[in-house]
Amino acid sequence: MPANFKNEDTDVKVESLLSAMSLDQKIGQMTQPERLSITPEEVRTFHIGSVLSGGGSCPGDNYPADWVDMNDAYWMASMTASDEQLAIPLLYGVDAIHGHANVLGATVFPHNIGLGASDDPELIERIGRATAREVLATGVDWTFAPTLAVARNDQWGRTYESFSEDPSIVTRYADRMVNGLQADLGEEAVIACAKHWVGDGGTLNGMDQGETKLSFEEMERLHIAPYVPAIKAGVLTVMVSFNSWNGDKCHGHNQLVTDVLKGRLGFEGFVISDWDGVDYLAEDYSEAIALSVNAGVDMFMVSVEWRTFIEHLKKHVVDGTVPIERINDAVRRILRVKVQFGLFDKPRPAQRSGSNSPCFGAREHRELAREAVRKSLVLLKNEQGLLPLSKQSRILVAGRNADNRGAQCGGFTVEWQGTVGNTAIEDGTSIWEGISSAAPAAELSIDGRAADAERHDVAIVVIGENPYAEGMGDIRSSDDLIVEAGSMIKGKIKVLEAYGSTLELARLHPQDLETMATISRQGIPVVCVLVSGRPLVVNAELARSRAFVAAWLPGSEGDGVSDVLFGDFDFQGRLSFSWPKHGEQHPNIGDPVYDPLFEYGYGLRYGP
Ligand code: GLC
Repeated sequence: MPANFKNEDTDVKVESLLSAMSLDQKIGQMTQPERLSITPEEVRTFHIGSVLSGGGSCPGDNYPADWVDMNDAYWMASMTASDEQLAIPLLYGVDAIHGHANVLGATVFPHNIGLGASDDPELIERIGRATAREVLATGVDWTFAPTLAVARNDQWGRTYESFSEDPSIVTRYADRMVNGLQADLGEEAVIACAKHWVGDGGTLNGMDQGETKLSFEEMERLHIAPYVPAIKAGVLTVMVSFNSWNGDKCHGHNQLVTDVLKGRLGFEGFVISDWDGVDYLAEDYSEAIALSVNAGVDMFMVSVEWRTFIEHLKKHVVDGTVPIERINDAVRRILRVKVQFGLFDKPRPAQRSGSNSPCFGAREHRELAREAVRKSLVLLKNEQGLLPLSKQSRILVAGRNADNRGAQCGGFTVEWQGTVGNTAIEDGTSIWEGISSAAPAAELSIDGRAADAERHDVAIVVIGENPYAEGMGDIRSSDDLIVEAGSMIKGKIKVLEAYGSTLELARLHPQDLETMATISRQGIPVVCVLVSGRPLVVNAELARSRAFVAAWLPGSEGDGVSDVLFGDFDFQGRLSFSWPKHGEQHPNIGDPVYDPLFEYGYGLRYGP
């Protein structure tokens, strides 16, 4: 049910609050520092409207109780009313983009690229609902999800956050995830955030935070379309994107933010900037702030320099370079969301019914995640029906990602860039652990050197990428591309160290092919399972495999992979991303010349 923004009571409450607020209180509501740079006392003193955790920024021992305590302290500070302090409850935001994966013991769902392959919108809504429950268990109110990116170049380090290269899949999922998370704004609701507005997945060379060069018609068809159902479903917040459109950065784009998003699409919630996103608009920080506020951004994610932000914005209002009407519009939107969400009616985080709920990481959610893993797998090759395997087979399991829950989960998991190994991913199962519990005779040899045709009937080799996030996952063939992108954009471009210079796995991680060769040269048939955040060029690895499965980034429940390898369940997944033949090919469904290795929608089955 879309949020009823026109609710009479809401407007009365909002207007009465607004009329009682000082300029300092209004600007405080528009400011979102990162937790490491602000104390509860400063939240009170500066009337701060929201605080966030950046990826991996976790309190205490990073269990739900630690998060509840942290949020309780911030909330109490925001609600300490006094003569000069209006009690306006603080919103806490976090990236729960595939479950509440920052937190130890969380259920970590497959990243969006795998969910896109499942082609199951109903599943998406259930995942949203379970994620909301686990977010509420930590006293948090707001997740910066769903990502509605339509990733058009697999060199982008955030391809895995995209459901598909095809806007129709993203459009079909957008409202389902919003409904799952916002749960009719009832007891089990969190605030959702559609991101990143707009064109984040369409940059040249897939460069993160780069230049999206498109006509408005193409931008509307590819990247704006998924926001329509999200807004109709009542998404309460939208995050603006780092990228630029035809040279102009979205963070300062009046046409995109005000005319299109708020005007044409009728978005009535509030727009938040991305992480220090204002900084890149202009050399002069004060000028950049005015540009972004006047473009229609309402709340500002200012990781550290939030005092400076407040000072500059206040000066702009006093000088008239930012009209008070724009400030009032921004604060009205923020207050309306807080009222619509029921934030004023909730008790302190420590006393909320959902806080510290035993549902966090519970079996019910893990079974849902395991179902999502099963449905996300795509079978690309199965020569002579090698799969499904018998549980009685003598199986050798090998590969860097075989017993690596961290690699399975990918970025935005416990750490911003994710983790490797099993330690940080509590209670889950690695792909190896799933196989060995289903087939007790299975043997693990990560480098494959234990392979022995006398003792092994078949090998399962789990290979692929290490975890990464954002620009650190980019594939960039040359740093000249940075200069090229920067020359097209007004403002500054932030570029992080790339993951590699090629999408060819044999050049990115040659040890994977070595492991496969060690095994296959003994005549042992190989089932290859690829754990990656995107399609990779795997021609050499395919040639060494009798069967080949794209597992994407399955998350904490790796046993979902063995469920399908042994035939307890059939494959359901179909490619939501075209698979390239070589590293210079970036095929997308609908290209005038379309010649991928595996087409969009491809996926084999056991059954008919
Ligand atoms: C990051 C990402 C954004 C995320 C935000 C907060 O830079 O671009 O998706 O929500 O910062 O972590």
